Amino acid sequence: MKKLLLLSFAIYSFCIMPAWALPDEGMWLPLLIKRLNAEDMAKHGFRLSPDEIYQVNNAALKDAIVSLEFCTAEIVSENGLMLTNHHCAYSAIQENSTLEHNYLGNGFWAKSHKEELTIPGQTASILVRMEDVTQAVLKDIKDEKDAAERDKIIAASIKEISKNASENGAYKAVVKDMFNGNEYYLFVYETFKDVRLVGAPPESIGKFGGDTDNWMWPRHTGDFALLRIYANKDNKPAAYAADNVPYKPKYVIPVSTKGYKEGDFAMIMGFPGRTNRYITSAGMELQMKYINPTQIKLFGKKLETWKKDMDADPKVRIQYAAKYATYANSWKYYIGQNEGLERLDVIKKRKSEENAFTQWAKSSPDNSKYENLLSDYEQAINPFKEILDQLFYLNFAGKSCEATALIRPAEALKSALDQSSGNSTALAELTKEAQEKANEFYKDYNTQTDYHVVTAMLQLYVNDIPLAQLPPPIKKILDGKGKNNADKINRWATKLFAKSMFVSPEKFNKWLQKPDAKSFDKDPLVVFMNELMQYSMATYIPVQIKYATQSENFKRLYLEGLMKFKKDHKFYPDANSTERLTYGNVKSYQPKDAVYYSYYTTTDGILEKYSKDKTSEFYADDRLIDLIKRKDFGPYTENGQLHVAFLTNNDITGGNSGSPVMNDKGELIGIAFDGNWEAMTGDLVFDPEFKRTICVDARYVLFIIDKYAGATNLIQEMKLK
Ligand code: ARG
Repeated sequence: MKKLLLLSFAIYSFCIMPAWALPDEGMWLPLLIKRLNAEDMAKHGFRLSPDEIYQVNNAALKDAIVSLEFCTAEIVSENGLMLTNHHCAYSAIQENSTLEHNYLGNGFWAKSHKEELTIPGQTASILVRMEDVTQAVLKDIKDEKDAAERDKIIAASIKEISKNASENGAYKAVVKDMFNGNEYYLFVYETFKDVRLVGAPPESIGKFGGDTDNWMWPRHTGDFALLRIYANKDNKPAAYAADNVPYKPKYVIPVSTKGYKEGDFAMIMGFPGRTNRYITSAGMELQMKYINPTQIKLFGKKLETWKKDMDADPKVRIQYAAKYATYANSWKYYIGQNEGLERLDVIKKRKSEENAFTQWAKSSPDNSKYENLLSDYEQAINPFKEILDQLFYLNFAGKSCEATALIRPAEALKSALDQSSGNSTALAELTKEAQEKANEFYKDYNTQTDYHVVTAMLQLYVNDIPLAQLPPPIKKILDGKGKNNADKINRWATKLFAKSMFVSPEKFNKWLQKPDAKSFDKDPLVVFMNELMQYSMATYIPVQIKYATQSENFKRLYLEGLMKFKKDHKFYPDANSTERLTYGNVKSYQPKDAVYYSYYTTTDGILEKYSKDKTSEFYADDRLIDLIKRKDFGPYTENGQLHVAFLTNNDITGGNSGSPVMNDKGELIGIAFDGNWEAMTGDLVFDPEFKRTICVDARYVLFIIDKYAGATNLIQEMKLK
């Protein structure tokens, strides 16, 4: 699952764990596998030793697991070739696509290294080592209760620890808190900056089923793509350069063509982004009744507006494809999470667990600091609830103009003009940066579409937020000329779009030729955004910050208490974009009464679902359909069939997208790409009955590369088992 778009800042909240953790539940830290999981994994059939998963001095599996920041990838060749999901490479494919070279629609296969496409801004990070630095981070804290003091001390020690570990910038060193701030770990990465696109199937394969099938099983999506890491001559990270060479990895994951059976051991390593498994019932309620409905409404309006323009113009369709997919993914996620919270009655269950905790806290004076924790937290939520809608609408409906993205680079240039009226090299550098940003931005920007979004979102804003709560710059629009709100908004926006330089590539590029502070300061978009920001800073932000601080504190204490309350329980930290391992089995499920879902799908399902209509989410081209009908599957079949996707009960979340799914021997049997509809509450509570990971079968991946695309050069690079 790809990392989600979060409109809110992190909403800190928490919950109780069941007293037992099933082997399938848990996102375990590689460093602790030996201590916490090795025995259990062996019992479940895993055949490698914990040292083969993680160790510092010799090559191990961890050296082939790559963070793409928002997704995961894995190294499958001696030449730095990586597999990930199509939806993880989607922006890269989209950015390289034009009407003439439509790689989204037609796929892309590099025949040689030379043909591989650059992906500006894409990095690939490999974990070198991790370390528990809790003692060092917390050592100077004297007064536990002084939250501000605590934060300051922690920030200072984290800064020092990461600075030392980065070895003068050779490594990326990050300290992350675990167990809600009760522990701290240092992660040292080697971060490569030259990553290229090697291959991708057309959308009709890589995104088959589109948003309709997204988050659902049964699935028939070939959700994979190939990337490659490039390094300098010394095999070290370097910025893009034509003469960089393919990276020589320490470890390569072999690809299995043998498949799996129900119940087989399966594990996943990757970089899950964020879970909130210790959320309280009050936190869940906040999510379900306030945050989710607002996000669903706001995202839904934006998607509806984009879609109209995308359907009308194939160029806009390409320009907005990646943005649309990202929002559509999060939008459906929030809908599913709310449905699940309702259906599984999780809040009620959580409440009774919380009562048990409070009883325990009251039972001994030693635990008295946890006695009022839950009720205090409920109190702290209230003021935040009051402003939540207003804040979200301001950020998303008020600040909806896409061209705002260029204000910052322009402002950097403007400030330099103000200060350094002579330093021409600094100015030239900033101009170049702004120009590059602008070129990248305008390639996928349509002024008319932006106008449609701005007006539609403002309309929603003034419809949904009571007049008295609207910020002055919005009220001013409604005070303008026109017969009704829609009319006033249109007039205002028409004027904004006629005058602002940001919504026009010509005007902005002209400004870049001869930047001046005055026209920047006077630009109506700059003025409007500043007014909104000032209002937000004065009205909402203090409430938001207060809540964030309070809940962070609660979160830490609550988990500290829970760990005492359930002494024998094996806890794992919430996902936080650090490397984790989850293990379990290949497994079917029963989504509802009398319905059984098999643990794998085959190409038969593609024949059942496909459409000849090119605009359909289920379009499949003749080449694929012909191969399937002729059963021309090459060596990738099982009993005459070709599997497309399969299920495991592994514990993953957004950020794990693209992660390798491995068998008992550590060979790749598939790539994780989604979660299922019945367990959309999974980030808050792990339900062993319903929670599944959806994986694309390695053999389907090989079939597409080999038989469909004829890219045998890539197959030859891999180590097939
Ligand atoms: N649900 C998947 C995830 O979160 C993303 C799938 C992308 N596909 C799509 N049709 N939007 O990783």
